[in-house]
Amino acid sequence: MRQVVIPRHGGPEVFELRDAPEPVPGDGEVRIRVRAAGVNFADILARIGLYPDAPRPPVVVGYEVAGVVDAVGAGVTNPHEGDRVIALTRFGGYSDSVVVPAPLAFRFPDELSDAEAAAVPVTYLTAAIALYRMAALSSGETVLVHNAGGGLGIAATQLARLRRATVIGTASASKHDALRSFGVEHTIDYRHADVEQEVRRLTRGRGLDVILDPIGGPSFLASYRMLAPLGRLVMLGISSMASERRNPWLVLRSWWGTPSFNPFSLINRNRGVFGLNVGHLWEERRALQPLMSLLLTELSAGRLQPIVAKTFPLDRAGDAHRFIQSRANIGKVVLTT
Ligand SMILES: NC(=O)c1ccc[n+]([C@@H]2O[C@H](COP(=O)([O-])OP(=O)(O)OC[C@H]3O[C@@H](n4cnc5c(N)ncnc54)[C@H](OP(=O)(O)O)[C@@H]3O)[C@@H](O)[C@H]2O)c1
Repeated sequence: MRQVVIPRHGGPEVFELRDAPEPVPGDGEVRIRVRAAGVNFADILARIGLYPDAPRPPVVVGYEVAGVVDAVGAGVTNPHEGDRVIALTRFGGYSDSVVVPAPLAFRFPDELSDAEAAAVPVTYLTAAIALYRMAALSSGETVLVHNAGGGLGIAATQLARLRRATVIGTASASKHDALRSFGVEHTIDYRHADVEQEVRRLTRGRGLDVILDPIGGPSFLASYRMLAPLGRLVMLGISSMASERRNPWLVLRSWWGTPSFNPFSLINRNRGVFGLNVGHLWEERRALQPLMSLLLTELSAGRLQPIVAKTFPLDRAGDAHRFIQSRANIGKVVLTT
């Protein structure tokens, strides 16, 4: 089988296509012939060397795939050989064959193409955990979705709209028309406008009920300041540390600007702050299963619609990373085998 390997940390040019032995599913595992693999921002951080969860190089990254089960290990009753599935992988997704524990593979609706299916697992699960479980978003609330034009941002916007919440989205200005077509009510060009001032104006000084912040560094504190009473902030990432290759100055500036939250401020302002790393929840099947079932039902009914920005062949993983890092993607970037 073919895999795209990161042999050392560095820019998008480091990827190497290599042959590897076909994996064999063990007890309770299934093997998937991968047709499409989702690209996540975490893969970029891993390539740069800023993702502590990732194994040291040489490493094959990739958190999610869509494909067909072509072998099952002992004791597996579901899914079956021949089923089209999406699956959560803990690395290794940039391959044309992967082995995963059977409970991490889910049959997906026929209505979705392979690329659309590969756009689902990480972004929709993360957004569902953040909005529905942690923040318990309810109808009529206002949520700020940062990077609303990306894979996670669009999933979060769709899930928030499903709960009849109002969405304010930040993104590069070139994405704003698309964001409005996805249901974002107000758009902010967060790299040029004063986001806090804009939010104050849009909410008439009240602030926001829920904020999803994958930017990190000083942005967490700015988000905290924008919360309304009973507001919830979900901290999701550190994209402010990312550049084409590791930039110690950027890392230090972002690290230095990362706040600690004072319990007395949380109490007296009636605010909540959550942290979320979906990659650490693969074993929490009792929490993941009902959310995944809900997502698959809504996807089947067409109430959720994955948006694929662009697909790249597996051996052009570097170009896929360049495309995301140029901030050009509206939707999810997917590798096809
Ligand atoms: N905690 C979790 O479990 C979890 C799970 C999934 C994703 N995330 C986080 O959510 C964020 C979005 O992830 P994603 O995979 O869906 O990616 P994505 O949003 O599809 O793609 C990246 C987009 O982020 C924006 N961006 C922000 N900082 C950037 C930077 N330094 N360089 C390039 N682009 C930057 C750009 O859009 P604009 O500048 O136009 O907005 C770019 O188009 C990432 O921070 C990721 O780590 C966290």
